[in-house]
Amino acid sequence: MGSDPFGLAAALDERRAAGLYRSVRRVEGASSPHLAIDGRDYLNLASNNYLGLTTHPRVVGAAADALRQYGTGAGASRLIAGHLAIHEQLETALAAFKQTEAALVFPTGYMANLGAITALVGPGDLVIADRLAHASLIDACRLSRATFRVYPHGDVERLRALLARRRGARRTLVVTDSVFSMDGDLAPLPALWDVCRAHDAWLLVDDAHGAGVLGATGRGALEHVGMAPTDGVIQMGTLSKAFGSLGGFIAGSTTLIEYLRNTARAFIYTTALPPPAAAAALAAIRVVQEEPALRQALWARQAQWTDGLTRLGLPLVSNATPIVPILLGDTARTMAVAQALQHAGIYAPGIRPPTVPEGAARIRTTVMATHAAEELDEALVKIAALVHRGEL
Ligand SMILES: Cc1ncc(COP(=O)(O)O)c(C=O)c1O
Repeated sequence: MGSDPFGLAAALDERRAAGLYRSVRRVEGASSPHLAIDGRDYLNLASNNYLGLTTHPRVVGAAADALRQYGTGAGASRLIAGHLAIHEQLETALAAFKQTEAALVFPTGYMANLGAITALVGPGDLVIADRLAHASLIDACRLSRATFRVYPHGDVERLRALLARRRGARRTLVVTDSVFSMDGDLAPLPALWDVCRAHDAWLLVDDAHGAGVLGATGRGALEHVGMAPTDGVIQMGTLSKAFGSLGGFIAGSTTLIEYLRNTARAFIYTTALPPPAAAAALAAIRVVQEEPALRQALWARQAQWTDGLTRLGLPLVSNATPIVPILLGDTARTMAVAQALQHAGIYAPGIRPPTVPEGAARIRTTVMATHAAEELDEALVKIAALVHRGEL
């Protein structure tokens, strides 16, 4: 047996050869409209910190206060000795924000999906996901050991057909992103819920990119499409994007939350969210509700950015949310464009398979409320130059 019996080095070489090798890049400073790499400043079009709350004084202040009051970690799982007043306050605030009876916080959004889905469905059940659902949803569906099916992206009729063909499943759960993380488009939530309701299925909506961003008061995707929260629609969200912290949550009925508290392994067998992160998220929810100007600024920048890219004739995957991907298709070309952008002082990642389907590589740009209008205009001028030189 050699020193690499699993063939890891060869697997890495294969990835390199296919242009799929991934590495981490060290960025300096806070997640803000600019970032620095090796001392050079870039416009940051790669952050999910949509409202700039990771550095908002109220959010930072709340985290600092919690740090002093509770220390750095919760020290135990929630069910043992890690359930603190700050967690309780956060869950109460999340339930009110999502207009549900209750909410349950997990250490990450990934774990919220994993915990909820594996608790709700298992062998003998059926779980169905949009083909472009986030990896955490897909992983949870697989791990659940329920029968797992996918429907083509956003295709309500194919979902209806899958549900109509269902035989003998005990429980049926449909899962979808509200805003698709690599496409930026919106799921047809009212139509999905109509079909689910007609077939006694529940719908889990991953609102990771919707909460704090979508809807007249920032409550998220349901508010955006005018759907009232209801039993049977399970709202999942994350505290790591617009809320600028870390953590995930499920919002729903008291019974659902009590059930998950008793059965969701990703909730039970892990240490509680660190108190400063919980306090930051709680403050962020308040900021979202009390400072609507931030959301208005985000949408003004979003309109400016999508209009500018559209005028340049670039093929946008969608223009409905602050996630604005430019579809290029070929992986090598996409990575070359990402390099050219970086050369021009713009940081926007190339997204390749397997994160997106084969032949659908893209540059993913995201705008923030805290981007200045002028700096986005400057970036559009630089992108126009790349287009004219045939580099994009
Ligand atoms: C749609 C979606 N769901 C879930 C997650 C996971 O959330 P978290 O980063 O809080 O684990 C993400 C992003 O990471 C996401 O984009």
